[in-house]
Amino acid sequence: MKLQDKVAIVTGSASGIGKAIVMGMAREGAAVVVDYVGNNDAANQVVSQIRSAAGKAQAIEADISDPAQVNNLVQQTLETMGRIDIFVNNAGLEYKHPFTEYPFDLWQEIIAVDLTGPFLCAQAAAKAMIQQGDGGRILNISSVHEDLPMPTNAPYCAAKGGLRMLMRTIAVELAPHKITVNNIAPGAIFTPIDADVEANAAIEKQLMGEIPLGRWGKPEEVAALAIFLASDAAAYCTGSTFFIDGGMMRQSGSL
Ligand code: BGC
Repeated sequence: MKLQDKVAIVTGSASGIGKAIVMGMAREGAAVVVDYVGNNDAANQVVSQIRSAAGKAQAIEADISDPAQVNNLVQQTLETMGRIDIFVNNAGLEYKHPFTEYPFDLWQEIIAVDLTGPFLCAQAAAKAMIQQGDGGRILNISSVHEDLPMPTNAPYCAAKGGLRMLMRTIAVELAPHKITVNNIAPGAIFTPIDADVEANAAIEKQLMGEIPLGRWGKPEEVAALAIFLASDAAAYCTGSTFFIDGGMMRQSGSL
């Protein structure tokens, strides 16, 4: 097993990519914390699924945009699981509106969850890891849109671009402590965040046309990359973004 005896916190892991990551990490021997907001039932279901397969899991509710709740997430994990080896900043949201009509309150909400949240979480996790003294792994689930513009999604793209430079900067600062920091940048993965596209055949076809491999990615495929980056095998990877996008970043746009 690749993550035997490690303790991992994954934000927003009651569904989507986060759920696949906690399930996968638990299968590899990690004790996992399922962070969620509001959807208590979904989080408890993930925990029961892991426990029924003899894995270790616990659900903790924490809104990552609130410093007190982030602190509580980390403290409660330390109390119940003893340590933190892996922190995955996965929680995120997006709302699509044309730029000139973009509501300011939604801009603030997206920046709070998609950028301020990972800042607060990485800071709290790094402090715990430094105190433990034997390194650690911080992973951010960013997006191809940390680099690729997406019309109608300005705050999301701004937050993900910010997450790229947050990752690069803290990777350098935390390297002396053997804490590695990397981004995973998924393309179109079949999860609830894309419910609007999944429900519209014409838009879905257009999106698939932008992906050289011509299909949605699976949450489990992202989880496999997260498991590698969280494992001892990835000790020399830090400060990088790992794209997992079916070639989306390489499509030329020409006919
Ligand atoms: C977004 C999706 C989008 C995908 C590919 C993701 O980051 O959440 O809405 O389909 O990138 O463009």
